[in-house]
Amino acid sequence: MSLAYNHTEIAARELKPSLYELEGISRQAVEAHYRLYEGYVAKRNEILSRLADADPAAANQTYSELRALKVELTFAIGGIKNHELYFEHLGGNGGDPKGAFGELVAREFGSVAEWRADLKATGMAARGWAWTAWDWDERRLFNYIGDAQNTFPVWNATPVVALDVYEHAYFLDFGTDRAAYIDAFFNNLDYAVVDGWVEAYGIGR
Ligand SMILES: [Fe+2]
Repeated sequence: MSLAYNHTEIAARELKPSLYELEGISRQAVEAHYRLYEGYVAKRNEILSRLADADPAAANQTYSELRALKVELTFAIGGIKNHELYFEHLGGNGGDPKGAFGELVAREFGSVAEWRADLKATGMAARGWAWTAWDWDERRLFNYIGDAQNTFPVWNATPVVALDVYEHAYFLDFGTDRAAYIDAFFNNLDYAVVDGWVEAYGIGR
């Protein structure tokens, strides 16, 4: 029997209590946002279980069950990974990063202010996500853009900051004022978490 679709069901990670006490981003918005994340987890589990029953002989690039399930699996997994990064590195006091991440952005962007300004602009230009990620091949830090949970990943790059700019992230608190939401995002970042990722992965060395 093929193990191609062997999988373990995963569960949504719990939110840290500090996520309910963000500055400018309400508990109501975070709770609604968390329910969307739970939905991505449930669909990832559902799609993987349904893939085992999809007929491989009917695989077709225009439409087939296999295609539909595999395309939407990337949306579900993207939604999980993006939001786990997002929730994990919020709940802090913002300010300027002073640790490993601060040193890295100062080196790669010239200054923390330059990094922040470019990530904000990238977020304003995106329809879903903006990420600060380290590309292991180019060995550089860059602010990448995403329009959906599954667009546009750059292979072999590791995101260390994930800015959600889908309307669901801010409409409840900020209406259409995305720029104000992005400022609030920066004010709630927990750079100790980001430093931990930079150090654990050996990014920038
Ligand atoms: Fe989101």
